[in-house]
Amino acid sequence: MKTLKVETGRPYDIIIEKGIIENCGEYIKKVSKAFKVAVISDTNVFPIYGEKVISSCKAAGFETCCFTFEAGEHSKNLSTVSKMYDFLAENHLTRKDLIVALGGGVTGDMAGFAAASYLRGIDFVQIPTSLLSQVDSSVGGKTGVDISAGKNLVGAFWQPVLVLIDSSTLSTLPRYYVEDGMAEVIKYGCIKDKALFEKLENKNAMDVIDDIIYNCVSIKRDVVSRDERDTGERVLLNFGHTMGHALEKLNNFSTLSHGQGVAIGMVMLTKSAEKAGLTQSGTAERIEKLCKKYNLPTYSDLPKKDIANAASTDKKTSGKSVELVLLKEIGESYTKKTELSEFEKFISV
Ligand SMILES: NC(=O)c1ccc[n+]([C@@H]2O[C@H](COP(=O)([O-])OP(=O)(O)OC[C@H]3O[C@@H](n4cnc5c(N)ncnc54)[C@H](O)[C@@H]3O)[C@@H](O)[C@H]2O)c1
Ligand SMILES: [Zn+2]
Repeated sequence: MKTLKVETGRPYDIIIEKGIIENCGEYIKKVSKAFKVAVISDTNVFPIYGEKVISSCKAAGFETCCFTFEAGEHSKNLSTVSKMYDFLAENHLTRKDLIVALGGGVTGDMAGFAAASYLRGIDFVQIPTSLLSQVDSSVGGKTGVDISAGKNLVGAFWQPVLVLIDSSTLSTLPRYYVEDGMAEVIKYGCIKDKALFEKLENKNAMDVIDDIIYNCVSIKRDVVSRDERDTGERVLLNFGHTMGHALEKLNNFSTLSHGQGVAIGMVMLTKSAEKAGLTQSGTAERIEKLCKKYNLPTYSDLPKKDIANAASTDKKTSGKSVELVLLKEIGESYTKKTELSEFEKFISV
């Protein structure tokens, strides 16, 4: 078992342990005086893991109820959250009670947002079941939903009281999503951890997945605890994302997954940075090789002009410039403010 402490306003633990889902009730009991536990999950995850969570919570003395929504990003909206509120009220959850988010990032973001806002905020526990949610979205306290103007535009910072990561759940995660999450894992190695990058090069990630999750979560925890409200260092976590988001958008968020966009973004941006003398040479080739090893794409032949245009209309791009995240070398990252008008030139080199 590996435990990481997160020192935010209200400190909490992240526990990584295969099979922990079966005993989640015991761990939840240690951090909560709740009478009732509402398990929120989606239609893919609940049938596989719901009963385990419910029976462990019952064994620990909690009363339980469960809310399931249709799996997928299309459900991540205020209408689903509104149904959650009704469900929580019908089941008489009080301020002392607790929500358990059981599922991937969509579940965690939405259940976390419901927890942040129902009765002006109740406790919640994250049990992330996708690789992306285990290494990324369950840590950092960002919760929220999509609106028609864009993804994640409505939300709140709300920290969980506990995160339980059971990597054995990855055995049922479709391969597409494992690969999607691997892009974020590679990203962590690139921006902060050369040893992690080398581990990914030399081993099969799934053979040492608990170690890898621990490495990723430590990095995210450290970055986030120095920049809880996302105004500074946290931007480093966006390595590969400016271009990645643009590519996702150009593909109408359908043919290209988030991780695939990020992988292409990391490689193409680093190639340009190398040519501009901003990154140690040979870096892009190593990232490219690693992405290929984990079945991720590394190139897009879309016109650079379109990519730059899509990046400039990104809802999260502030004003006329973009804070590009570049690598000095593997494991060391920095930011470079770049005018959007220069961005096209930069990626076209
Ligand atoms: N809050 C944050 O800081 C943050 C960070 C990154 C991403 N996100 C959000 O996370 C979301 C993406 O996360 P995701 O990829 O986990 O999406 P997801 O929750 O939709 O999960 C992906 C798919 O895998 C299924 N699934 C999950 N775990 C499974 C398991 N163990 N076995 C079988 N099927 C399983 C889900 O039902 C879904 O179909 C996006 O909405 C994104 O905006 C949030
Ligand atoms: Zn990402």
